[in-house]
Amino acid sequence: MGVADEVKSRLDIVEVIQGYVPLKKAGRTYKALCPFHAEKTPSFVVFPESGTWRCFGACQTGGDVFSFIQKRENLDFADALRMLAARAGVALGPQPDETPAEEQHLEKLRAALAAATTYYHQQLLHYPQAERARAHLAKRGLLTEVVTRFQLGYALDAWDAVLTHLTERGYALEDLEAAGLLVKRDDGTGYFDRFRNRLMIPIRDVQGRVIGFGARALEDAQQPKYLNSPQTPLFDKSRILFGLDAAKQAIRAADVAVIVEGYMDVLAAHQYNQANVVASMGTALTETQLRQLKRYSSHIVLALDADEAGARATLRGLEVAREALDRESVPVPTAEGLFRFEGRLKADLRVLTLPPGQDPDDVIKADVAQWQKSVAEAEPLVDFYLRTALADLDLGAAKGKSEAVRRLAPLLREIADPVERAHYVGRLARLAQTSEETVRQAIERAAREEGRARKPAARREASPGPKPQPAPPPQRPVREDYCLTSLLRGQTPLARVQSDLYNLKARPLGADDFANGENRTIFLALENAYLDDGGRLVATTQARLPEALQPRLEALLSLAATGPAMSDEDAAKDLVDSILRLREERLRHSLTELQYLLEDAKSSGDSESIAHFGQLIRSQSADRDQLQKLLYSRTLQGRRQAMTETV
Ligand code: UTP
Ligand code: MN
Repeated sequence: MGVADEVKSRLDIVEVIQGYVPLKKAGRTYKALCPFHAEKTPSFVVFPESGTWRCFGACQTGGDVFSFIQKRENLDFADALRMLAARAGVALGPQPDETPAEEQHLEKLRAALAAATTYYHQQLLHYPQAERARAHLAKRGLLTEVVTRFQLGYALDAWDAVLTHLTERGYALEDLEAAGLLVKRDDGTGYFDRFRNRLMIPIRDVQGRVIGFGARALEDAQQPKYLNSPQTPLFDKSRILFGLDAAKQAIRAADVAVIVEGYMDVLAAHQYNQANVVASMGTALTETQLRQLKRYSSHIVLALDADEAGARATLRGLEVAREALDRESVPVPTAEGLFRFEGRLKADLRVLTLPPGQDPDDVIKADVAQWQKSVAEAEPLVDFYLRTALADLDLGAAKGKSEAVRRLAPLLREIADPVERAHYVGRLARLAQTSEETVRQAIERAAREEGRARKPAARREASPGPKPQPAPPPQRPVREDYCLTSLLRGQTPLARVQSDLYNLKARPLGADDFANGENRTIFLALENAYLDDGGRLVATTQARLPEALQPRLEALLSLAATGPAMSDEDAAKDLVDSILRLREERLRHSLTELQYLLEDAKSSGDSESIAHFGQLIRSQSADRDQLQKLLYSRTLQGRRQAMTETV
């Protein structure tokens, strides 16, 4: 869940808006005089269930709690988020807009790490004491090319080698400690080199800047085998994939990324021209890591150890991600192994099971073609789950069968698509040698248990004042996302969209067309980016957005990358059509809501409201009819054109 969603789910929109306008309960909604325009009859309505508000009167606009606060307090998204996050008790994490002082500090740490990299590298190449490290590389068959490319190094077997080298060059001890290169003595009497007598592997961020090291032991007695940089302001093992900077282009080109566990596996892969490989550095995979990879390809292959321990670690990462996410954003497996963090991350995750006792390192060196074949034939994640979850069970026995079903029912339950789900229900039934009916019942049971576990306390209808409220289902206005995605693709310039709308006598596309506060802000940034510089649209938009909105922008951009290619004309038509449809859809929803409000007014005999809502229904019906006619004629036009083209 993104921070914005987290904030939304924790706040009661009624309570927030109540702080600005007195709300009156009307059925399942709340009414008020619209705070954004002058009116005598309330046409401002809050919908607690969906966490949205709408002005049915002159404003004809609405949105979520963010857009309300932005409009009302005249804030930009970042400030609205700050304000609401504080209220919801959600920590925003490190502030995105680093003050120059902080950035300067990070720059200093980066410089120290770069200097250390060069130093270690020179030691490896030239120092007699580095013989052990060179021998290790030679034994593994690693070529100079890779050693140079990755700037591998050697840390001398000394307590103050890097310390002396870098302090002589003006680096402060505290900075070297902060960069993870030095360790402070327990008794506070000074510092010493963290890495001693080790093969040094620089770890870089996506831009290729060194942020830490993995340091391999060279003697059996040295523990641990790999000593890594500690957590520093630059280095966070759970967010970094080793080798991504060197692999990103190859990942894009091959449209598949392979995740292995070890540094050495990545190095071997590069040596054999399998450059689309990155390493999770032996820890559980995190969602952040997957999301980074997804920028380059949504096809991800996990190369897992057959020895289970490794497989467990990686899968545990996925489980952790599952735990951390709520129902709406839970990873959903699909038939092709499509595993998506609903609404945020959509990736085709596959599993490559390595031969027992072998690392990718060994496989690649032994037979590159075999490696490529294994990557191409990797197994969809759900199949892998099915197979491994059942591996230790005796499926011939009744106990084994019921255990199999019990273990997998929760997973199958999460497969959203009914056809896919049926497919896996069948598979599981066959694997566990039981009936599909038994599996289905187990799934229902799992659903009920889940429901009980997650159900928030029931809302106390009558009690006044602030009350805990179930999180509104985050409404993902899919059409809205689509429009924004198309705009971000940049094929149809905004000016073209506006002039087409103008010619259709429709109002220009504006922020108010977007109900989702995040979308709204992204649209505004995009609109401004057009004013700045049409050429680097996405970069400029990105630069204009706060950190908190980057994940959402990324999600939209990756959607944009998947759309079908269209001619400029078709793209423009498609976009304008979807804007019109978006408006038509919204009018239809609005009319349903108005109908409900009208009935409510009738049952309470509120004649003023009856007249007011009746009038709104008439005018909005007229708008809807007009839009529907327009859409219909555009469809006809399209068909006729298609016919003349084929004739
Ligand atoms: P492995 O023990 O499988 O190492 O750990 P490896 O990559 O195969 O190394 P070689 O081939 O023996 O040289 C896999 C990864 O787990 C992390 C490292 O990132 C390593 O590459 N790891 C392992 C550590 O961080 N610390 C350790 O002590 C061990
Ligand atoms: Mn290995």
